[in-house]
Amino acid sequence: KFSLVYLFIHLFEGQCVLKEYTTSGPWTEFGPCEPQSRNMKELMKIRVEPPGITCGDPPERFCSLDNPYLCSDECDASSPDLSHPPQLMGDRERGGLVSYWQTVTWSRFPEPLLANVTLSWNKTLEATDDIVVTFESGRPSALVLDKSLDRGRTWQPYQFYADDCLETFGMFPKKVSDLSPSNLTRVICTEQYSQWVGAKEEKRVVFEVRSRLSVLAGPKLLNMDALWTRLDSSPGLRDFFSFTDLRMRLLRPALGGTYVQRENLRQYYYAISNIDVPARCKCNLHAASCSLLDGALVCDCDHASSGPDCDVCKPGFTKRDWRPGSYLPLPQGSANICECWGAMGACECNEHSNRCSFIDFLQVVTCVSCKHNTRGTNCHLCRQGFYRKPSVPLSSVDACTECQCDSVGSLSAVCSQSGLCPCKSGATGRRCDSCLRGFNRRETGCTENVCDDDLRLCQNGGTCLDFTECSCPSNFTGTGCSQEVSDSAPQPLTCSLLLTPLLFLW
Ligand SMILES: *[C@@H]1O[C@H](CO)[C@@H](O)[C@H](O)[C@H]1NC(C)=O
Ligand SMILES: *[C@@H]1O[C@H](CO)[C@@H](O)[C@H](O)[C@H]1NC(C)=O
Ligand SMILES: *[C@@H]1O[C@H](CO)[C@@H](O)[C@H](O)[C@H]1NC(C)=O
Ligand SMILES: *[C@@H]1O[C@H](CO)[C@@H](O)[C@H](O)[C@H]1NC(C)=O
Repeated sequence: KFSLVYLFIHLFEGQCVLKEYTTSGPWTEFGPCEPQSRNMKELMKIRVEPPGITCGDPPERFCSLDNPYLCSDECDASSPDLSHPPQLMGDRERGGLVSYWQTVTWSRFPEPLLANVTLSWNKTLEATDDIVVTFESGRPSALVLDKSLDRGRTWQPYQFYADDCLETFGMFPKKVSDLSPSNLTRVICTEQYSQWVGAKEEKRVVFEVRSRLSVLAGPKLLNMDALWTRLDSSPGLRDFFSFTDLRMRLLRPALGGTYVQRENLRQYYYAISNIDVPARCKCNLHAASCSLLDGALVCDCDHASSGPDCDVCKPGFTKRDWRPGSYLPLPQGSANICECWGAMGACECNEHSNRCSFIDFLQVVTCVSCKHNTRGTNCHLCRQGFYRKPSVPLSSVDACTECQCDSVGSLSAVCSQSGLCPCKSGATGRRCDSCLRGFNRRETGCTENVCDDDLRLCQNGGTCLDFTECSCPSNFTGTGCSQEVSDSAPQPLTCSLLLTPLLFLW
């Protein structure tokens, strides 16, 4: 299960522009990209309704559901230690001390105890893992999770939760595991997170994202391609995991597994200690990061896109309709960048590409995906390992010719713009495939001749063998046979060293 979520979170995180710098201009390639997933609870705005629903004004005593005669706790909004304001749902629990928002008690029974908790980000997010709400003092016996995709203007139910779905909502109870790929986005009512098991036993109410994703990837997660393909080809599916706001409509508190006990209504209330929302900014695969700007989340759009969710093309880059980035084809995906008009004069690619992009950090419009081994802002240069033949027009498919540097004679396979390969010493020629005068070609390269018929002749009638040694007549010696052999010629060193003292003594 974990590896699926891990993949979902990480596969396309990272750079939108794959850069390679050269002295003669940027060479760029683009890929789909997504910001990192994070716990969005730190950035949510929390609003509770109706006014006066938070406990403590006036101060009130409340009782424990596990033990209705234990009523020692007090809520007092004017005391820092005894108050339970809404922001405690989103705080970090310090040193294991649980802090929570708490409502007034159900003293007005039988009028229902209703409360709305609205979480807003003012930014479209995509859930990447389970949304988990932690209830102290028991989970509600009825609640609805709503979501909005338009900053709270319109709402739709996300999931219904009740200890009796049929009675409360007129819906048959379902589990996410009942879903199939064809009805994955069905809004269900579940009883899994509402039944009474004791206030301390199980506190979590979950909106299952993981399990829904594994419905697509198959029980053993062998079919990741299916997950990507489905997410890519079905906008409705991606929208299902997207939201700008979440709202919990709390409809009935935990009842302790029995009927409402009218004589002790102070044991019924809602208390939430934590809300985890693992998600990422939705940037349509056009941004690798999402920044906090004046407390608001904003996609750092790339690929010449803009807008809060990178959902439009920048002005001037509207040659093609805006499209989101794509997970397909696997595994590298497609950036689907916004393209500019050639008529702007800026996008001139010498017939090696028909696409340009604006690179923010360089402030240039540059051709992308130059073909025919060209590169550069106008596809006017040759890729490494290729060079321009002046006789061939720049717009020709043959504008760039492979260097073909000789592997034995060259220092590298990369030639200059004019096609000259860098030669090892002794080698020469455009490709370094021949040798200088006085050198001869061998497996290791050009080696300097010991003798030849040209610069270094063997003397005194000697003959040159394979450029490496002179074969001398018997009365001549030395590398070039220039030294005469005579009786006074020095004897081998070992011999003379032995003989000299002997001769001296004698
Ligand atoms: C909660 O929100 C719904 C939808 O806007 C509204 O009808 C309802 O009155 C609200 N409940 C409370 C307690 O404010
Ligand atoms: C929401 O974000 C938009 C930019 O996307 C900004 O213009 C607007 O002021 C924000 N609204 C609030 C209430 O923060
Ligand atoms: C989803 O579809 C499957 C079979 O395709 C079916 O068994 C299941 O009941 C459906 N679930 C819901 C909630 O409609
Ligand atoms: C070397 O020997 C050859 C014959 O073996 C002889 O003709 C020649 O004169 C000799 N040269 C010298 C310098 O002794």
